[in-house]
Amino acid sequence: MEAVAHRILIAGIGPGHPDYILPAARQAISSAKVLVGGRRALEGFAHDGQKQIPITKDIASVIGFIREELASEDVVVMVSGDPGYYSMLDALRKEFPRERLQVIPGISSLQMAFAKLALPWHGARLLSFHGRQPEERELFYEKGTVLGMLTDGSFDSHRIPVLLMEKGWPKETRLAVCARLSYEDERIVETTLEGALEMEEIKHGILIVQG
Ligand SMILES: C[S@@+](CC[C@H](N)C(=O)[O-])C[C@H]1O[C@@H](n2cnc3c(N)ncnc32)[C@H](O)[C@@H]1O
Repeated sequence: MEAVAHRILIAGIGPGHPDYILPAARQAISSAKVLVGGRRALEGFAHDGQKQIPITKDIASVIGFIREELASEDVVVMVSGDPGYYSMLDALRKEFPRERLQVIPGISSLQMAFAKLALPWHGARLLSFHGRQPEERELFYEKGTVLGMLTDGSFDSHRIPVLLMEKGWPKETRLAVCARLSYEDERIVETTLEGALEMEEIKHGILIVQG
């Protein structure tokens, strides 16, 4: 008899609050026998009886574990926001054939930030400073440009505005600093590039700039 080819389901869990996860992702996660995810996601969504593996910086070990489990089970991988925007999907595509992967979309933290500002995001330039730096040519100033950016512990809500001003963005350009989107303690501050330096820096958040 032909062996069953098990699959990896990559489920987006949205910005964090359980109200913002799709029912299809919730269903896949609750019925998973093997569940992979960041510690926060496992705390929020895993239940007893599931084999749980935290995603750590050691991605090679996580991939190795998934490969072993796939021999006998489907594996569900939870990622924050949408899997299509800077998630472990990149690494999984390099390691496994396309037919083994199934993606359930989620609401990206960027989508959530634009929604909170009631601002359309078509036409916006989307950039990630999370563990990477956009290319020089992506940072240029042009009047009317809207930027949506992921930040991290290094490129935060102080460092990025300084970088943009160095690239020619006017200091009075409107900036929204968004943290903990969807949670009870969500914080959205509307300021300017220059004004951001007066407030406490936000590390893991979203910056929306309206040039
Ligand atoms: C590895 S990236 C994942 C992006 C994710 N795939 C998405 O679509 O939102 C992690 C970054 O997403 C952003 N992020 C994720 N959840 C967030 C939230 N609830 N509020 C603000 N920013 C968030 C932060 O910039 C964080 O550093």
